[in-house]
Amino acid sequence: MRRSILPKTLIRHAHTQSPKRTVPKFSGRGKFNPETQEHDYVQEHDYTVTPYTYSYLASDNMEQFERFPLLSNLTLYKRKTRPVKSRMLARDFIDDSLYNPHYGYFAKTAEIFSPDSPFRFKEMANIDDFLDEWSEEYKRASADKDLNASEVAKNQLDKLLAEKRTAKVNRQVWHTPTELFHPYYGQALARYIVGQFRSQADRSELVLYEMGAGNGTLMVDILDFLRDNEPEIYAKTHYNIIEISASLALKQNVHSAGHRDRVTVTNQSVFEWSKRDERPCFFIALEVWDNFAHDCIRYDNTTNQPHQAYVVVDGNGDFTQVYSDRLDSLASQFFSLREKINYKPTLQLGIHPLQKPRLLRQLKNSVYSFHGNLSSPEYIPTRYLQFLNVLNAKFPNHKLLASDFTNFDEHISGYCAPVIQTFMEGMPITIPTYMALQGFFDIMFPTDFTFAAQLYEQVCNRKAIATSHGDFLKNWASKETSTRTGEDPMLSFYRNTAFLTS
Ligand SMILES: C[S@@+](CC[C@H](N)C(=O)[O-])C[C@H]1O[C@@H](n2cnc3c(N)ncnc32)[C@H](O)[C@@H]1O
Repeated sequence: MRRSILPKTLIRHAHTQSPKRTVPKFSGRGKFNPETQEHDYVQEHDYTVTPYTYSYLASDNMEQFERFPLLSNLTLYKRKTRPVKSRMLARDFIDDSLYNPHYGYFAKTAEIFSPDSPFRFKEMANIDDFLDEWSEEYKRASADKDLNASEVAKNQLDKLLAEKRTAKVNRQVWHTPTELFHPYYGQALARYIVGQFRSQADRSELVLYEMGAGNGTLMVDILDFLRDNEPEIYAKTHYNIIEISASLALKQNVHSAGHRDRVTVTNQSVFEWSKRDERPCFFIALEVWDNFAHDCIRYDNTTNQPHQAYVVVDGNGDFTQVYSDRLDSLASQFFSLREKINYKPTLQLGIHPLQKPRLLRQLKNSVYSFHGNLSSPEYIPTRYLQFLNVLNAKFPNHKLLASDFTNFDEHISGYCAPVIQTFMEGMPITIPTYMALQGFFDIMFPTDFTFAAQLYEQVCNRKAIATSHGDFLKNWASKETSTRTGEDPMLSFYRNTAFLTS
C-alpha cells in the first residue's frame, strides 16, 4: 500500500521496511553508541514497565514525594548530565528529553532530509516513480556529508550506508512536506499569504514570523517566490525566524544568504520570546506542535478529579510516575478553558478516559489495585496552550498559518497519546512509555484540530479554521507536483496532517 496515507513514522523514516517492531526485542539490553555513552559499562534499559504499571498518589506519601527537588524544563536545560534524585512534571521531562542542549534528542540525533535538487514531478510517470526517486535520494542523504556519493561505485553504496547506519545507531532523518515538495509547497503557502496580505487594511509592510524553520527551506521558497512574482511586496517583506536549535539556526542563516536584508534569525525557544510586535503579521508553524510537550492526566474514578503526572527520578536514574491532584497553573488554565468550550473528544485519538463507564473503571481498579483508583491517561496539550498565550501576548495582530499531524498509528496507551520512537541499525522502534532514556527517542503528539481551533479562539479571541492538508493545498498549489498520470503526491500524501489558519 505505497500510496495510502503516510503516517509520520513512515514520513520521517520512509526508507525502512517495517515501522512495526515489538518492544521486548529492544527493551532487554541496549548497548548505546559509544560516542554518547556516559559510562563505560553496558547500560540496560527496561521499557516493559509502562507509566501505567504502577500509579502512586503524591498524597499517599507527601514526605517522600517532596524529598526530591522539583526541576522545571529551564533548570533541566542547564544540566549536562541526566537528572537523578529529582522530580519534574511529565511535560518538563518530555521537554528535557527532546530539547536538552547536551543530551536532548534535537541536539543529538535529528536531521531534516533535504533533496539535493527539487524532484522533477512532471517527468515522473506516477507516484511509484516518485517514491523510488525519494528512496534513492534518501539513501544519498543518509550518507555522511563528507561522503561524495558520486565517487563511490554504485554497488558499494549500500554496503557503505549499512556501515554508517551501524556506526550511528540513532541518526534520524525526517521528511517534511516543505522539503519533499520544495519549492512548490513553499510557493503554495506564499500564494496564500499574498492573498491574505492583499485583503489586509495596513499593507505598508509584510511581516512574517516562522517558528521552528528546520533547514530554512520554506523561508527561501517564500522569499524567492515574492522576489520573482511580487517584487513590490518583496521589497517591504521582513522574515523573522524563531528557532530553538542552535545548529538549525546556523543553517537557516547560511540559507538566507540570497535574502540577507529581508531575514532575521533568532536562536531562541518561542516560549522565551519577550518582544511584543503590534504590527499585522503572519505566524507560521509547520510540524512544530507535534513535539510540544503534553501533561499526562488521569482522573479519579470516583470523583473525576484530574491528577497531574510527575516523573520522579531516583538515585539510579530510574523513573516512577506519581500523580498529584494539585494542578500547576498551566494545567489549571487548560481545564478552566476547556470547561467553557463545547468540548467533544475525537475517536481518532482513542477513547477519552471520562467517556469510559465509571462502573467499568471502578471494577478495573479493584482488579488492578496498584492503579490508585485512577483512570487511563489523557495527554493534554499544555505547551500548545502556552504557545497560544505567547501568540496572544506578543503578536496581538497575527494571522496563524500552521500545519501538523492529526493522528499517528503506533502511539503509547492513552487518549491523545504520543508515539515514542527511535532508530536502531536503520530500523524504527517504538516503545510503550515516554519515560525512556532522555534524548534517544522522538516524542510526537497528535493534534485534535477542532479542539485546537476552539482553544485558539478562547485565548486569541479570533476565529481559526481547520482544513485538511489536501483541501488547503488544492486552493493554493500550482500543478507543478502532478506526475504524468495526473497523480499529485503533494495533495495526496500527508493525509494525517491538517492546517489551522486564522
Ligand atoms: C520537525 S522540524 C520542522 C521543520 C520545518 N518547519 C519543516 O516543516 O521542515 C521542527 C522544528 O521546530 C523547531 N522547534 C521545536 N520546538 C521549538 C520551540 N519551542 N521554539 C522554536 N523552535 C522550535 C525545531 O528545532 C525544528 O526546527
